[in-house]
Amino acid sequence: MKITVIGSGYVGLVTGACFGHLGNQVICVDNDLKKIAKLKKGTMPFYEPGLEEMVKLNMKEGRLKFSASIPEAVRESECIFIAVSTPPKENGEADLTAIENVAIQIAKSMNSYRLIIEKSTVPVKTGIWVEHTIKIHKRKNCLFDVASNPEFLREGQAISDFLNPDRIVIGVESKRALNLLKRLYAPIRAPIVVTDIKSAELIKHASNSYLAMKISFINAISRICELTGADISKVAEGLGLDKRIGKQFLQAGIGYGGFCFPKDLDAFIAIANQCGYDFRLLKEVRNINQDQVTFFIKKIEQALWNIKDKTIGILGLSFKPETDDIRFTPALTIIKSLLEEGAKIKAFDPKAMDKFKLLVPDITYCRNPNEVAKGADCLVIVTDWLEFKSLDFVKLKHIMKQSVIIDGRNIYDRQALESLGFRYFGVGR
Ligand code: UDX
Repeated sequence: MKITVIGSGYVGLVTGACFGHLGNQVICVDNDLKKIAKLKKGTMPFYEPGLEEMVKLNMKEGRLKFSASIPEAVRESECIFIAVSTPPKENGEADLTAIENVAIQIAKSMNSYRLIIEKSTVPVKTGIWVEHTIKIHKRKNCLFDVASNPEFLREGQAISDFLNPDRIVIGVESKRALNLLKRLYAPIRAPIVVTDIKSAELIKHASNSYLAMKISFINAISRICELTGADISKVAEGLGLDKRIGKQFLQAGIGYGGFCFPKDLDAFIAIANQCGYDFRLLKEVRNINQDQVTFFIKKIEQALWNIKDKTIGILGLSFKPETDDIRFTPALTIIKSLLEEGAKIKAFDPKAMDKFKLLVPDITYCRNPNEVAKGADCLVIVTDWLEFKSLDFVKLKHIMKQSVIIDGRNIYDRQALESLGFRYFGVGR
C-alpha cells in the first residue's frame, strides 16, 4: 500500500520504517529540512536500536523515501498518518497547532479519496477537529475519512513493540477506513480493537495514565517499605504474580520520565477538566512522581552529610536505558539540585551525553563508569543501563574517595556491596 507518515520523530520514523519493512511504499515527511537531508543520507535524528539498519535497508530496496513536501507525499499516498508532536503548553494542555496545520495542508493537497489517521497521542475529540478542518479546506467532491490508530511503542524497543504489539487499536467511522487499516495491519499478528474515533483516542491516554499510575503506586509502596524495613523487590514480586495486577511496571525507582508519561498525564488531566471531570487520581500520580525525585535527592544528601564540594558520580542521563532521549529525565532535576548545593558532578551515559551537554555544559563528562568513580564521594545510579549492572566493585572501592552507592533503580545486591565495604542506599529496601 502507499502510505505517507507526516512527522519524523520517534513515532513517525518507526511507523514509516516498519510499514516499509512490511512491504508498503512509504514516504516519511518532516518540515525540518536538515532532518530530512540527514535521513536521506541514512543518519538518524536519535538513537533507537535497529532503526538505522531498518531505514537504510528499506531505502535501498525502494520502499522508504523522505520528503519535506506534504503536497507531493499526499498526492502519492492513499493512507496519511499524522505523527507530528503534540508538545505541552504551559497549562499542561497538548498544543495541537501542528496537527491543525498538517490537516490543512493535507486537505489542500488531496485530489481523490484519502484516509487520514491520527498516530500521535492526542486528546479525545481531536478527530472531530481534524475532520472539520479538512472539510473546510479540501476541494469539493473529494472524499476522505479520519481514523485514530494510536501507537503504544516504547523507546529503546520501538521496533519490536511496533511489530509485535499487544493490540492494535483502530478507531473508525466508516467501513472503507476500517478495511484499509485492516489490510495495512494484516501482516501483524495481534488482537484488533475496533472502535469509534473518540474511544480510540481515549484508549491511548488511559493506557499511559494507567501505566504511570502503576509506577507511582509502587513508588508510594517503596516509601512505606523504607519506613518499616520491608523490601520493595519482594513486595513487587508478590503483587505482580497476581495475574490481575501483572508483573510489569512495578519497578520502584526515581519516578517516570520521558516525553510521554509526564506530558500525556498533564494533557489528560487538562482534557478531563475541560470535559468537566476533576481527575484527582492522576493529579496524585503526578505528585507522587515529583516527590520521588525530591526524596531521592534528600537520600543523597543524607548519605553524604554536606553536599558542598563533594564529588558526585552520576551513572546514566537518559530517562531510561537504550535511548539517548533526555526529555523529562530525572537526571536533570537531580544534577541541577546537586549543582545548586555546590557539588562537583562527574557523569557518564552510553548514549545521551551529547544531548545532555547542550543542556548542562559545566559538569565533567567521562568516558566510562570507572572514570566517573575515580575520586568520587559517591556513585548515583540514575538509569538502569545493562552495562552498569556488572561493574568491577573491587576496583571501584579502591578508586573512589568514599565507598557509597546510591542506587535509584535497585540494580545491585545490597548484601554483596556491603560485604565489599560499601554503604548502599537503594529505593524501598
Ligand atoms: C511509554 C509507554 O510505555 C508507551 O506505551 C507509549 O507509547 C509511550 O510512553 P516510554 O516513554 O518509551 O513508553 O518508556 P517506558 O518504558 O514506558 O518508561 C517510562 C518511564 O517509566 C521511564 O522513565 C522508566 O524508567 C519508568 N519506569 C518504567 C519505572 O520507573 N518503573 C517501571 O516499572 C517501568
